[in-house]
Amino acid sequence: MSISLTVLESIIREAGSIALNHYNNLKHLEVTKKSPRDLVTDADVAVEAFLQKALAREYPQFGFWGEESGQSADQTNRWIVDPIDGTHSFIKGQYFWSISVALEINQELVFGAVYGPALDDYYTAEKGKGARKNGETISVSSETKLADAMISTGFACLRSYLQENNLERFGRIAQNSTGQRRFGSAAMDVCMVADGQVDAFWEQELNLYDIAAGVLIAKEAGATVTDFKGNEGIFPKQILVTNGKILEQILPLM
Ligand code: IPD
Ligand code: CA
Ligand code: CA
Repeated sequence: MSISLTVLESIIREAGSIALNHYNNLKHLEVTKKSPRDLVTDADVAVEAFLQKALAREYPQFGFWGEESGQSADQTNRWIVDPIDGTHSFIKGQYFWSISVALEINQELVFGAVYGPALDDYYTAEKGKGARKNGETISVSSETKLADAMISTGFACLRSYLQENNLERFGRIAQNSTGQRRFGSAAMDVCMVADGQVDAFWEQELNLYDIAAGVLIAKEAGATVTDFKGNEGIFPKQILVTNGKILEQILPLM
C-alpha cells in the first residue's frame, strides 16, 4: 500500500486549520438542520471539500465516501471521511470534536486518523503496526473491574425514531461503574478507549464514517470491537469498544 503517513498528517492538520478558522469565528458560522438533532455547518462542508480534493490529488487510485458529499469514484478502495465528528460540540465552542479519515481496501481498514484540532490530539494507526497519539504508542487500559471503570456513550442524533434509545442501557451500566462520560464525538470516544482514558464505549445508530478510523486505532491499541452481543466485527448500528478486560462484565448489561 502506497500511502505516506507524513503526507496524510499534513493534509489532515491542514483540514484542522480550516475547521479552526471557523471555530474561532463561531458568530459567523452557518448552521443548518439536516433533520431534528442532525446539524451541518459551512465548516463541515469546507473541511470535507478540502479533504476530498487533497486526497484525490495525492492518491487518485482511491475513491471517496464523505458524510456530507456521499460516495464518489471507486468504493472498493476508498477514503471514509467524517469532516467534523461532533458538530454540535463544535457549534457550542467545546473541545471534543474531530476529523476522521480512514482508508478501506477491499473491505479492510488499513489506515485511520482521528484529529481533534481544539485539543491538538492526533491519533493514528496503520493495520498491523500499532496505534499512536501525537507520535507516542498507545494501548488500552488495564482496568479489570467494571465496578471501578470509566465508561462513555453517546445518544445518536437519529434516535428520535427508536423505541430503544440507550437511556435504559446507560442507566444499567452507570449503576454498575464508577465514572460516566458523554464527550460528543464518537470518533474521539473510540480513540479514548484506545488511549486508556476510558475503559469502554458504546453507541447505537452510528454510521461507518463516524467510527471507521477510530475502530482501527482502537483495535491496534488492543481493544475489542463487537456488537452488543459480543460478536466481533464493525457494527455501526451497535458498537461496543472495550479494553477487553471488562467485556464479559459489560455484555450482560447491554
Ligand atoms: C455525531 C457524533 C456524536 C454521536 C452522534 C453522531 P456528527 O456525529 O459522533 O458523538 O452521538 O450519533 O451523529 O453528526 O457530529 O458528525
Ligand atoms: Ca459523525
Ligand atoms: Ca460529521
